[in-house]
Amino acid sequence: MGLLTVTDTTLPNQGETVTESTEFEKNQKRYEELIASFPHEKGWRPKNPLIQYGGHWLIQPRIEGCMYAQEFFQARPTDLLLCSYPKAGTTWLKALTFAISNRSRFNDSTNPLLKRNPHELVPYIEIEFAFFPHIDAINNKENTLFATHLPHGLLPESVARSGCKMVYIWRDPKDTFISMWIFYQKQKTHDGPLNSLEESFDMFCRGLSSNGPYLDHVLTYWKAYQENPDQILFLKYEKMRADPLLYVKRLAEFMGYGFTAEEEKEGIVDKVVNLCSFDTLKNLESNQGEKNMENRPSSFANSAFFRKGEIGDWQNYLTPEMAARIDGLMVEKLKGSGLLEW
Ligand code: A3P
Repeated sequence: MGLLTVTDTTLPNQGETVTESTEFEKNQKRYEELIASFPHEKGWRPKNPLIQYGGHWLIQPRIEGCMYAQEFFQARPTDLLLCSYPKAGTTWLKALTFAISNRSRFNDSTNPLLKRNPHELVPYIEIEFAFFPHIDAINNKENTLFATHLPHGLLPESVARSGCKMVYIWRDPKDTFISMWIFYQKQKTHDGPLNSLEESFDMFCRGLSSNGPYLDHVLTYWKAYQENPDQILFLKYEKMRADPLLYVKRLAEFMGYGFTAEEEKEGIVDKVVNLCSFDTLKNLESNQGEKNMENRPSSFANSAFFRKGEIGDWQNYLTPEMAARIDGLMVEKLKGSGLLEW
């Protein structure tokens, strides 16, 4: 990834304060003008509308970040892009890919995952790349791990051009929805109260959720995977939970960091699985209480990214009718795609 580090070199008049605008800020007005003409809908909070872009619904800053990434993010063939719908298992995937690719650099006590939230180590192309370009993971040319919640159709062209690999993780829509609605409850924001569970659920089913429609998001990557199976590894949260060892080995192989027979014998795969497990990460001091990311401000405490990590928690929140509605949608949307049987 080549970041264009452009600083404002205009010399100020005497007495004037030097204000350096970031490359993003120099383009922001142009993005805002474009976005103003896109369809707007009521969002999950009163002051946070959903805006339609490329057939998907996103909040304003994410579209701005997406436009910036589309213009400036230069993917390299060696990069790995972690793609997911929010709340489908991104944090886990970030931790695993970081642990896999850096396993020879750190030992059991020096791994940065022990001190930092996985989101600090693997930046989003539509968030950190645009809004927090100063962070290490963006500036360090050796970092090859990036993430995105953007649907496949909104990815920067450089991703396809570079041929860089991608990993996509998806999850049962019922658990994804519940995880998202509860996550938003933990957000510190001035955008007003979160919609009720029922209203948010109805909107989620109608495709009105961040980066939604969710199932379309999944399908964009599934189609891309079918067209180019060597470029994308398709993962499912539930399958990984059932057999993490198998999938961590598969993931490492796909990344070009396959475990040697010796490493397997030494229990290195188990170590990666354990380091990145829900219980380990959740219980680290850095992911406790109100602790925040150290490298950038966030409206979520680190602890918000680790809730229950269970399969089927939706049963504690959704009525059978709600579940049937989402299951019906899933069959309707995914039938014939091969994903229902996958
Ligand atoms: P729940 O809210 O159902 O507990 P994302 O990382 O995409 O935001 O997804 C968050 C979901 O993944 C949350 O689900 C969270 O608890 C779970 N999660 C976070 N870290 C995990 C890990 N290391 N292993 C398994 N699940 C994890």
